[in-house]
Amino acid sequence: MQAQRWSEATYEVTWITDLDAVDHRVLPPDPDVLTAIGLSHDLNSAIADLVDNSVDAGATSILIRFVLVDGKPRSLLVVDDGRGMSDSQLDQAMTIGRRRSYEGSDLGHFGMGLKSASFSQADILTVLTRAAEAPGIGRRWSRHTRDFICDVIDSGQAEQALASAGPIANSGHGTIVRWDDVREFPTSDNPAVVDDYISRTTQQIRAHLGTTLHALLEQGKVTVTIDAADVTDGSAGAPQTVEAIDPFGYRRSGARGYPKTLWAEVDHRRIALECHIWPARSEALGFRLGGAAEQYQGLYFYRNRRLLEIGGWKSTAIPHRRLQLARVAIDVSENIDLINMNMEKSAVQPKPSLLRGIEKAQAEDGTSFSDYLRDAESAYKLGNTRNTGRPQVVPPGPGIAPEVKRAILEELPILGGREPVAIRWKRLDNTDFFEVDRRAATLWLNSRYRATVNGDRRSSLNDSPLLKAALYLLLEDIFRGTAFGPRDKDNVELWQAVLSAAAQAEADH
Ligand SMILES: Nc1ncnc2c1ncn2[C@@H]1O[C@H](COP(=O)(O)OP(=O)(O)OP(=O)(O)O)[C@@H](O)[C@H]1O
Ligand SMILES: [Mg+2]
Repeated sequence: MQAQRWSEATYEVTWITDLDAVDHRVLPPDPDVLTAIGLSHDLNSAIADLVDNSVDAGATSILIRFVLVDGKPRSLLVVDDGRGMSDSQLDQAMTIGRRRSYEGSDLGHFGMGLKSASFSQADILTVLTRAAEAPGIGRRWSRHTRDFICDVIDSGQAEQALASAGPIANSGHGTIVRWDDVREFPTSDNPAVVDDYISRTTQQIRAHLGTTLHALLEQGKVTVTIDAADVTDGSAGAPQTVEAIDPFGYRRSGARGYPKTLWAEVDHRRIALECHIWPARSEALGFRLGGAAEQYQGLYFYRNRRLLEIGGWKSTAIPHRRLQLARVAIDVSENIDLINMNMEKSAVQPKPSLLRGIEKAQAEDGTSFSDYLRDAESAYKLGNTRNTGRPQVVPPGPGIAPEVKRAILEELPILGGREPVAIRWKRLDNTDFFEVDRRAATLWLNSRYRATVNGDRRSSLNDSPLLKAALYLLLEDIFRGTAFGPRDKDNVELWQAVLSAAAQAEADH
């Protein structure tokens, strides 16, 4: 035993390097600990944790369902067609902090998600599951358990619930996670309040899962749908699919030479930093991410194709408006030891060695991390001068191919509350190429030229994307203003004359 005293310090402290143990006590946690776990979850991140488990279980179809009774939300279900669990696996799954052995590709890590996510939102967690060729089984935990005693659910009822659950009914195996007494569910009897809650929450879940799971969704290996069903009258709202929202999904880079891979040297390893520069002033969903793009600059850490945190520089750069186009994707699946992940898997703390590596990272062509940041800043400045004064436009509508619409939305700010302009074909009783119908927000194209324009391609609602894109750019402002002045009129006449002549010439060819 070594004792040392500091007498000069303000307070005296006796420091004994190795303290001796003389006895042992087992101190089981108070069950109240359950009310304290998962506190930094919100509904989105909690549901994401359940979806992670479904993905780990090999699910291809995942349904998130709000169950309503008499018009009021009562439970939330996450149903998957994954491999399900055996009786002993289910016991382990319900055990707090029980880690299984994980595959390199698994999203699970702590053995906590199911419980902490569930109890952060709900007071009762029920899991019903069926492995292939096995009977349905179930367990239930209450957050207010007195002694960690878990209910075993009647297997007949478990079978019944599993047999009728969409994704499981098809595959014959899968899992239902059910939350009751969800704390944030509205208690109001007013159907409008309930409707508003369900639609707002559905949108938030779609945005969150669409972003964090975008890479998995894009691969097409898993689909996630959200719906609400009232068990009283068996009615169900239209299911909404979670679409991928790619925070790197621009169609044209914002700077020449990007994206560029910079390499961070960390403990004799090379970590790839995929450095991207978004085009300035993009209106793309993947850029805005439901908020101000400025918030989402920085590092995007991926683990097994699951996005852990949406941006943030982690002290490798100072966040600034001018850096808003800079986003760096870092896949840490193979180097998970270089980060600390919070238990909710919604925040990442890179280890100091990784942070130093990032600051010193270089590309093969010698570009440094600070060069990259500078390039992102210049792209922002340039884009801002170039694009200022781009007018707000009437949104493109039916008849215009989705790819064209997306490109337009990425480049131009959209006027709110305006009916989208449709571009459609109809027979006009003259040889004009088009007709402007401002009241119906429709640009009609004379269908007598349709075969000529389409050549041997099939006619369809969204046909002739190139022609329609050009016409949208030319004529959109005619639909924008309230006034249709002499100048507009003259322009329309001019375009009509030239385009009709061109259409005739094509037809005669
Ligand atoms: N939907 C599911 N299908 C099949 N097995 C599941 C499902 N959900 C949970 N499990 C099983 O339960 C275990 C515990 O899940 P839990 O989310 O608590 O921890 P984890 O996923 O192992 O780690 P993490 O805390 O990082 O999420 C999982 O490891 C898995 O074996
Ligand atoms: Mg988990």
